Amino acid sequence: MKKISVGLLGLGTVGTGVVTILTNHQDKLMHQVGCPIELRKVLVQDINKDRLVEVDQSLLTLEVDDVVCNPEIDIVIEVMGGVEETRKHILAALKNKKHVVTANKDLMALYGPELLMEATNNGCDLFYEASVAGGIPILRSLVDGLASDRITKMMGIVNGTTNFILTKMSKDKRTYEDVLSEAQRLGYAESDPTSDVEGIDAARKMAILATLGFSMNIALDDVRIKGISTISEEDLDYSKRFGYTMKLIGMAARDGDRVEVSVEPTLISDHHPLASVNDEYNAVYVLGEAVGETMFYGPGAGSLPTATAVVSDLVAVMKNMRLGVNGRSAVSPQFEKKLKVASE
Ligand code: NAP
Ligand code: HSE
Repeated sequence: MKKISVGLLGLGTVGTGVVTILTNHQDKLMHQVGCPIELRKVLVQDINKDRLVEVDQSLLTLEVDDVVCNPEIDIVIEVMGGVEETRKHILAALKNKKHVVTANKDLMALYGPELLMEATNNGCDLFYEASVAGGIPILRSLVDGLASDRITKMMGIVNGTTNFILTKMSKDKRTYEDVLSEAQRLGYAESDPTSDVEGIDAARKMAILATLGFSMNIALDDVRIKGISTISEEDLDYSKRFGYTMKLIGMAARDGDRVEVSVEPTLISDHHPLASVNDEYNAVYVLGEAVGETMFYGPGAGSLPTATAVVSDLVAVMKNMRLGVNGRSAVSPQFEKKLKVASE
């Protein structure tokens, strides 16, 4: 039976989760894809670092070409983060006819259209479910599950770190700095947490959601952004007293040919379902013309939840390989005419 060989770029929080799932869920994966999955090479920065998961030392490499140009590798999983250098690695992998799975919203929000086009031109899949809302299969739900509907509004909590910070500051009376350190230790925060706390990570995710949900190119520059770094414990106490909870809310709304996308701290009534989304959990509310209201909820960050989405993308790629198709399901938007964004 032919094996499928996988190369991993990165073995940090998410990469460790990917290896754990590939190891612990072998039976389920074999049942899904009908052949074994072999981890062939893993790119890291430091070969001698202590790892949280057991990986044969001979698989580790400092040379990206050992993964993206390796003729024995069929699928590349990118979980190293970064943008410019990573874009080059993914383009190289696609040009070498390797399917790619990535968790990188920074990259997809900036270079998604270019990379998806390169994938199409090379007959490859490029899937990125884990880039938005960690373990919640929201991109598949938008593109497949709601394919027949016209989506008019999306609203949600799409950054686990800031939701963790606001929850712990409000409920446990802990300081901003203390909770941010814990979010970093637990692997929720980005390597530079500025993008989390200033709302940029959430804005990237809203740009991806709006692009897929409204079938149009929404760039990061189209998103109005305000983060939580200036929110004080007093602000949270005050809102609680009046029956509100402060959340960092991403909003994308479409009205005719106009679209508005924003991320900002927002007071939510304690009775609203989003008010009870706590800690690192995320939730995305989607309003469709035909379906009405739907809501998706789950862990938005962390090793295993995020890796679940990554490995599910891997399974989707392998099913496509078996069928001899690519791009089927989930993540290639069919663009309508360019609509106007509200900031234009
Ligand atoms: P991380 O813990 O910092 O891990 C990054 C890994 O990539 C490390 O193993 C590191 O090697 C390796 N790496 C980084 N730069 C490299 C370079 N230039 N050359 C070679 N190896 C390099 O990051 P993470 O939290 O797993 O996140 C990875 C990606 O997933 C990011 O795009 C992030 O935005 C996205 N994501 C993360 C989460 C989450 O909850 N953490 C959720 C969804 C999406 P060493 O180990 O040797 O240092
Ligand atoms: N830093 C991100 C967050 C990781 O906190 O939501 C998941 O994308």
